[in-house]
Amino acid sequence: MNRNNEDYRSPAVPALTKTLLEDVKKIFKTTSGTPFLIPTTGTGAWESALTNTLSPGDRIISFLIGQFSLLWIDQQQRLKFDVDVIESEWGRGANLDMLAMKLAADGAHTIKAICIVHNETATGVTNNLAAVRNLLDEYKHPALLLVDGVSSICALDFRMDEWGVDVALTGSQKALSLPTGMGIVCASPKALEASKTAKSLRVFFDWNDYLKFYKLGNYWPYTPSIQLLYGLRAALDLIFEEGLDNVIARHSRLGKATRLAVEAWGLKNCTQKEEWFSDTVTAVVVPPYIDSAEVVRRAWKRYNLSLGLGLNKVAGKVFRIGHLGNLNEDVSDVEVEVEDEAEWGVGEDGGEMIEGDVGGDAGGEVREKVKDRKDDDVPKLSKEIYSFFDSDDSDWMIEEESNDGDGNDSTDEDDDEKFEDEDSDELLSDVNSIESVDPLNKSTTILPSWICLKRKRKRYIYFKGRICFNWFIYFKRWSWQKRKASRGW
Ligand SMILES: Cc1ncc(COP(=O)(O)O)c(C=O)c1O
Repeated sequence: MNRNNEDYRSPAVPALTKTLLEDVKKIFKTTSGTPFLIPTTGTGAWESALTNTLSPGDRIISFLIGQFSLLWIDQQQRLKFDVDVIESEWGRGANLDMLAMKLAADGAHTIKAICIVHNETATGVTNNLAAVRNLLDEYKHPALLLVDGVSSICALDFRMDEWGVDVALTGSQKALSLPTGMGIVCASPKALEASKTAKSLRVFFDWNDYLKFYKLGNYWPYTPSIQLLYGLRAALDLIFEEGLDNVIARHSRLGKATRLAVEAWGLKNCTQKEEWFSDTVTAVVVPPYIDSAEVVRRAWKRYNLSLGLGLNKVAGKVFRIGHLGNLNEDVSDVEVEVEDEAEWGVGEDGGEMIEGDVGGDAGGEVREKVKDRKDDDVPKLSKEIYSFFDSDDSDWMIEEESNDGDGNDSTDEDDDEKFEDEDSDELLSDVNSIESVDPLNKSTTILPSWICLKRKRKRYIYFKGRICFNWFIYFKRWSWQKRKASRGW
């Protein structure tokens, strides 16, 4: 996407746009939806969804579960809708019992739309959209279903057609791993129909202007970002190459890895129930004597690692680990996998694991610690985490516990082992040879504490938390360099 600007009325840009509009529907899992690629951010995409389908004074139901749903509600109120807010404690999902009550009481169908954030990025809560659709169907309610999928679409399971979503939206900077600047909105036939009578004032976001140019075949009512269009092409190609369902499965593994790490650290997930756990972001609650903003600051300064701050009600109380987008697993010959729960505490050869023993026996002891932990121990364990952030670099250098392999493994894997040890050495020297920090790479990173690097014949190398942390930072740099080299950037 790093290219000169082009005339958007040239034959090339409409041809590119046509394929993008067709292909982008796949990430929404829709065949009947109409997409709009708008030069804006997620906030503009919200406005586009609301103003094209609703009129001032319309009654809408909106779930307040965290900072982003709060901001959307603020926009809805400023656009003069009659917003019926269903609030949940931050860390909990949308209160669907309350929705059921409101739908049951609305025989006259005064509710025109249900607005819901699929994945609340501030608290790491994923809402159950299928359940919302089921309720609307159960009460035969015609309200439109408007969904913010900014931190879900292309990373979490999202099915626009199957769940009867009327407007779904996302932003380029999240799971698509593009720079900020494109809002992607997709409207169902019912939403397009509603736009014909919706009276909200709209100019820049008017779908009608887009539709006119769609008909003319040149697609743009105003100048698009050419670079983002080419970027979207590349992002979609990468996603389709991996397979959308594989991308979603990868997010599920990385989400689980992160939650296991948080658990092993003795810290709590802000998300209160498993059913709401997010596979794209984990909000980690810090003990009361720690300011989470300080954790974020140190991670940034010392480890070139970008963690998310706690926002609004949870400011200072949580930090957020983003694990969405184009994360490491696409590195050509190394696969990062999360071990199965069942594998905890047992080495591949059935042997007992020892914490931090790189080479197959890590995790078991700490797993036990976590299991036996009483709540009183949490601050103590958390202090260890805190001291990690506080520690000297020398304390966690990768060489310190280098990849010595699992020398005691069964003999039939010796060859593989040798190969892998050599290969891992090569990998390590590769990553260690990268001297400077690439600012482009200072993006969301995850910190799973026990991750398996799975190679060839089911062999695992375990890393304990701090090594893995270190690894991920190096790994990202290395993968970035590799990709740059392979694509001649
Ligand atoms: C769930 C969600 N919705 C909306 C937004 C707002 O998007 P933007 O900042 O691109 O306007 C964000 C931003 O992070 C978000 O996470």
